[in-house]
Amino acid sequence: MNFDYTEEHLNVQQAARDFAQTELLPGVIERDNEQKFPAEQIKKLGELGFLGIMVDPKYGGSGMDTISYVLAMEELSKIDASASVVVSVNNSLVCWGLETYGTEEQKQKYLVPLASGQVHGAFLLSEPEAGSDATSQRTTAEDKGDHYLLNGTKNWITNGNSGTYYLVIAQTHVEKGHKGINAFIVEKNWEGVTVGKKEDKMGIRGSDTHSIMFQDVKVPKENRIGEDGFGFKFAMKVLAGGRIGIAAQALGIASGAYELAVKYSKERKAFGKEIMHHQAIQFKLADMATQIEAARLLIMKAASLKDSGKDYALASSMAKVFASETAMWVTTEAVQVHGGYGYVKEYHVERLMRDAKITQIYEGTSEVNRIVISREILR
Ligand code: CAA
Repeated sequence: MNFDYTEEHLNVQQAARDFAQTELLPGVIERDNEQKFPAEQIKKLGELGFLGIMVDPKYGGSGMDTISYVLAMEELSKIDASASVVVSVNNSLVCWGLETYGTEEQKQKYLVPLASGQVHGAFLLSEPEAGSDATSQRTTAEDKGDHYLLNGTKNWITNGNSGTYYLVIAQTHVEKGHKGINAFIVEKNWEGVTVGKKEDKMGIRGSDTHSIMFQDVKVPKENRIGEDGFGFKFAMKVLAGGRIGIAAQALGIASGAYELAVKYSKERKAFGKEIMHHQAIQFKLADMATQIEAARLLIMKAASLKDSGKDYALASSMAKVFASETAMWVTTEAVQVHGGYGYVKEYHVERLMRDAKITQIYEGTSEVNRIVISREILR
């Protein structure tokens, strides 16, 4: 067992840290207030190779491992989780799904622009009546011979408006249940695709979350991913990796809040000394640091299993549950360490606390991930 990072890992970590400080930090409070998508920042992240971190360079990616991806996600998420979720969805769900299961034609046409950061994508699984219960897809893809006809509504779609290409999960053979579900590549500008209103969210307010409606959208047969009926397994496989990305986002939110709490405790004086000299604060910081380190180890284990080609579904769900609950707890404590200052926007920790909440909800709620974990351990 080796806990050391390679030089490449340290380089990507440093690059992400620098980017977060110079490009994400300025304006992060305003973007949160105004619900403004970080378009310029995402363009630059794409140019630097962060939108296709794990993709083979022959398809426009950076060819790095999952550990590098986790390190980059942590650093970006310390400062701006609205930007890092774009990086996570594009890398883990969209690019990984296409690179692993797409045809060569699909990779050339869609993966290359997605991995090289010319565009980014979205993953469309959730529906008004199919969030946690993902097998209950109401969106239909009717087989019409040389194409499918797509009809239905998707909800809470990250990158819903800013994304150019969508991976859409839809039901083709209702009688077959989850075995009749397919996954398709759909272009946002196709006829019959409508982007609904932007959701006014509690956290990650810069991220663009929308409903997407499909009305008689013609999807060519060659845009189906995998064999007929592979869609649900495709979604589950993709989400197992996606949960590593969201766990890393939660880790970044937690460690960002922790670093701010440490800094503040060294500056703020109360009862005649810096508050770091009070045991009440020291114990909080010790517990925060310990929880964060435990989350990091679980995430790195999942990432390392993925890199070595082993099964990582259990490890990624464990990492996601633990890291997201750590993020919620640590950010709440960080606000507490800041006292009244923690409750105002200028000090950043209240935003991190609001952002932390979504990590317990998307890519499988904590409850869904506990279903995955308990099924594995009771198998
Ligand atoms: N790999 C391969 N196959 C898998 C799998 C995996 N990791 N997990 C499940 N499957 C297979 C099962 O083996 C089963 O196949 P068979 O019938 O052939 O055995 C099939 O999928 C159905 O599995 P289940 O019986 O376990 O299905 P279920 O209905 O009981 O539900 C669930 C399983 C875990 C609750 C699932 O519905 C789920 O993960 N729900 C949450 C969905 C989710 O995470 N949504 C996130 C939306 S995307 C997002 O959030 C992006 C964003 O904005 C950031």
